Amino acid sequence: MTVSSDSDDTGANDALTAAGQARQPVGIAVFLATLTAFCEAAAESLGGVADEAALEQARIEFLGARSGRLKAVQKNLSGLAATDRPAGGRHFNEAKAAVTALFSAAQERLAGSGGEQATDAIDVTLPGDPVRLGHIHPITQTIRRVQEIMARLGFESVDGPEVEDQWHNFEALAIPSEHPARDPLDNFYLAVARGAEPLLLRSQTSTVQIRVMENRQPPLRIVSLGRVYRPDTADATHYPMFHQVEGLLIEQGTTMAHLKSVLRQLASSFLGGDVHVRFRPSFFPFTEPSVEFDMEWGGRWIEMGGAGMVDPAVLTAVGYDPEKVSGFAFGLGVERIAARRYGVADIRDFYRNDVRFLRQF
Ligand code: DAH
Repeated sequence: MTVSSDSDDTGANDALTAAGQARQPVGIAVFLATLTAFCEAAAESLGGVADEAALEQARIEFLGARSGRLKAVQKNLSGLAATDRPAGGRHFNEAKAAVTALFSAAQERLAGSGGEQATDAIDVTLPGDPVRLGHIHPITQTIRRVQEIMARLGFESVDGPEVEDQWHNFEALAIPSEHPARDPLDNFYLAVARGAEPLLLRSQTSTVQIRVMENRQPPLRIVSLGRVYRPDTADATHYPMFHQVEGLLIEQGTTMAHLKSVLRQLASSFLGGDVHVRFRPSFFPFTEPSVEFDMEWGGRWIEMGGAGMVDPAVLTAVGYDPEKVSGFAFGLGVERIAARRYGVADIRDFYRNDVRFLRQF
């Protein structure tokens, strides 16, 4: 077989690299075989890469712009006979597209498999995750609101212990030992050492009246809001733990009219609008006279709590002279007024901790 050195047929004259090196002419069959080998090697390599570093290594080896194997195959393209070149070029382009696609697939596979590099990277330009703020529980909101209203009327907010002795929970409040309110079945008495004075979880916040009066001299205006405990079965209006508001005012010349106007102010500010208050005669051991008070709101009278003028026996128990000082006291349930204000039918909802319920307030 003769090869004419000046003939274009062999493509010999074209078989020059960019660097000007002479090249052996390449037959199309050899070229295609090289192309196939290239594709197979690339497929095997890219199919097996396990991390970003290996992928980059494979990219440089097969697709690298300067000395990648694809580049080498491309150089062979120019060694093809002119007649074979269009077909060779087409095959070359197909092979290039196929290997590039394999590379993209490998890239996607690594990103999708949660490759650590991918998740570790933080894109600081993305908007941040919004922080969902919680908010104050409706019972705590109610407590704070009542404290705020009473503060405007000059009543200081005070706290007392939840574990109490019999003196503060009963005796000083003129509740004698035979009184049914002291029944073990109606209170959470605590198991204490033999011979020690019985303790209990306080059943009312009236205990705080005693604690304050024992330590301070009149005039006094205090309000105390906190937890109380009674072994009641939970239902729509009862719960073994609930909250009370206790108010106490000791000043010269105090009358039931003052009591009523304070309660009316509290009710109107808390519920909104002009709320009427009415008294019904009642009995509490620590007030004389005693009343229960109702509030008219939304066209209905609702029982709110108990009140009265502080009983002289109580004033004496704390060391005050009942001939010189007098005052009034009142107590009402926090859950009850919260339920009224927010339209809650079942107080157990306050304690279910269901955020779908709590989020509404
Ligand atoms: N402590 C009472 C109770 O739990 C409520 C009460 C009634 C409080 C009359 C008072 C009062 O201060 O004067 O049922």
